[in-house]
Amino acid sequence: MVITTSQLRVPVGPKGHWLAGNLPDFRKSRLAFLGDCAREFGDMVKIRLAHRRVYLANHPALIEEVLVSQSKHFIKHFALRLNPIVLGKGLLTSEGDFWLRQRRLIQPMFLKNRIVGHAGAMVAATQRMLDEWRPGERRDIHAEMMRVTLAIAAKTLFNAEVGGDAQAIADAMEVMQQNFVQRFNSLLPLPMWIPTPANLRAKHAVRQLDDVVFRIIRQRRQENVDHGDLLSLLLRARDEDDGSTMTDQQLRDEAMTIFLAGHETTALVLSWGWYLLAQHPEVERKLCAELDAVLGGRLPTADDWPKLKLTEWIALETMRLYSPAYVVGREAIVDCDIGGYHVPRGTTILMSPWVVHRDPRFWDEPEKFNPERWGDEKIKTLPKFAYFPFGGGPRSCIGNTFAMMELVLILATIAQKFCFRLQPGTTVTPMASFTLRPAEGVPGVIETRLPIV
Ligand code: HEM
Repeated sequence: MVITTSQLRVPVGPKGHWLAGNLPDFRKSRLAFLGDCAREFGDMVKIRLAHRRVYLANHPALIEEVLVSQSKHFIKHFALRLNPIVLGKGLLTSEGDFWLRQRRLIQPMFLKNRIVGHAGAMVAATQRMLDEWRPGERRDIHAEMMRVTLAIAAKTLFNAEVGGDAQAIADAMEVMQQNFVQRFNSLLPLPMWIPTPANLRAKHAVRQLDDVVFRIIRQRRQENVDHGDLLSLLLRARDEDDGSTMTDQQLRDEAMTIFLAGHETTALVLSWGWYLLAQHPEVERKLCAELDAVLGGRLPTADDWPKLKLTEWIALETMRLYSPAYVVGREAIVDCDIGGYHVPRGTTILMSPWVVHRDPRFWDEPEKFNPERWGDEKIKTLPKFAYFPFGGGPRSCIGNTFAMMELVLILATIAQKFCFRLQPGTTVTPMASFTLRPAEGVPGVIETRLPIV
């Protein structure tokens, strides 16, 4: 039976301002707005952000249709196109045949057998950070986690030490992220070529980024030596069909994308993880028991990863409650039918792990931090997209295995020696920016780890 457009449902949603639509409410508190819409209007909600028609898909079955079974009908959402000068045509932002070719070239670098080769660099960078820590010291845990994942990204991607180039890249990327959020929040973002102070700052940041990254690429081409890092693999990657390699511009775009997509997301899971552990000493105690049983005081290696079950569950449960990508978005390029709803061409669909990961239809006691739920048989019966911190379908995170190993190894290395206590009176508020950040960091006190009783 052919279903006509008129037989399909049109979602409803909250009333908005005549010009700005729901943008003011969305801007005021993105997380609360997304949650309220789902509670009040159900699985598919219609909103308007200024002139843009947006649907919020809040059910795993609808999300699976968008990300997997009908993925051909969608491209990445408008927000990722707001600032094309940073990521260029890297994996996160490119589309169509160009994206597919790049994904095929890059995918082998992220297979598990390749990734385990980076375990030593991950543990060594963590150990170097711990050498500076003293019990009783006050530190912003989030800043520390950013520092360690930045060092790991620099080492595994460019074989570089942090300090010079890597910090310059990270600083410039922060300017770009602020520019992105400003543009997203404005009713009508001015084109990048208009010399507003924000645009000039962003362009300056990109020039700095390009100077560093193109210099590294030039040096590498001249040396022609395998440094064992991701850039060496990118330089050697060859298209199976025509034998071509990547141009300098493509290398720059992919390296920048991997750097941006990889290091802050991972740091955020660790920061939120320590925040949750600080409030759950009973989980921390079990974690220490696991580490003692598996590692007995030595540093972890890639071989230990499958045995560090609770450590991995802590990472999974942290991403359930505080998914760094709190929203994943797509734009329809044709009229389509998603779960019986009519989605006109040009509609943006936002799917929020923040909302779905806390939906009581799928999760028992959804607000509770309970890593052991991941060892329960019940977890296997969940609909596929009740949990999607890494997105899904053909555009799912290429670095998810890399990230999972990194999370487990960093957590294990730190928790063997130290734990954190939050400074008294601290409240940590999630801030939905480009990613889900702790608004004021996570101020804590470092302590020697809990003894096992
Ligand atoms: C816990 C850490 C991470 C989280 C939560 C995360 C999350 C995500 C999500 C949700 C997407 C899909 C976005 C979409 O569908 O629009 C994505 C894509 C991507 N991620 Fe990750 N990511 C993480 C770590 C990494 C790492 C470590 C790398 C690389 C070293 C990486 C590289 C990428 C790339 C290149 C894409 C684009 C893939 C494509 O479109 O083909 N990510 N990530």
